[in-house]
Amino acid sequence: MKKRIGVLLSGRGSNFEALAESVAAGRIPNAEIAVVISNREGAPGIQRAESRGIRTSVIPSKGLEREVYDRQVAAVLDEHQVDLICLAGYMRLLSPFFVAQFPNRILNIHPSLLPSFPGLESQRQALEYGVKFAGCTVHFVDENLDAGPIILQATVPVLDEDTEATLSGKILKEEHRIYSQAVKIVLEGKYKIEGRRVLSAA
Ligand code: GRF
Repeated sequence: MKKRIGVLLSGRGSNFEALAESVAAGRIPNAEIAVVISNREGAPGIQRAESRGIRTSVIPSKGLEREVYDRQVAAVLDEHQVDLICLAGYMRLLSPFFVAQFPNRILNIHPSLLPSFPGLESQRQALEYGVKFAGCTVHFVDENLDAGPIILQATVPVLDEDTEATLSGKILKEEHRIYSQAVKIVLEGKYKIEGRRVLSAA
């Protein structure tokens, strides 16, 4: 049986696309993207999914209380019998209800070396802080923002001539690479969690 991935996004969807490419190319073996859900109408990521023939669902979140909204999303994920949830530019904090519903089955990609620069505009935060290395993190999701045990990270050097745009571009390339790697590790169960540490396991 193929493992079923559900992707939640709010925008562009390049990380979704990278995951879809990896699934199609067999870099994430025995898996399929069962559904892509957006909380925003008109998210380009939804069009990308449609053009790949992947099922989509737009569930507008505006004005809804967090848990009320999350229950709707959880119902769609259950309907599609999803094994793993990948947040890919999903601009919402998850309710404790949602996190408890899918323990250690939700991943997120964040464009910084966490725990540095959580939240929005991480690449700008890194540049303004003056760090010499930036990067990205794939982590399990808990109810706190950009927290949860770290599965993989990748670094990129920050050069004098970097701007927010060039730095973001370099980081994004690494995001696309390590997100697929992390999904493979998790789907194959080749890890164990000890405290906050995610260690490899055969
Ligand atoms: C990425 O930088 C990701 O790390 C962050 O939001 C951005 C989403 O980009 N969480 P995309 O929609 O995957 O292109």
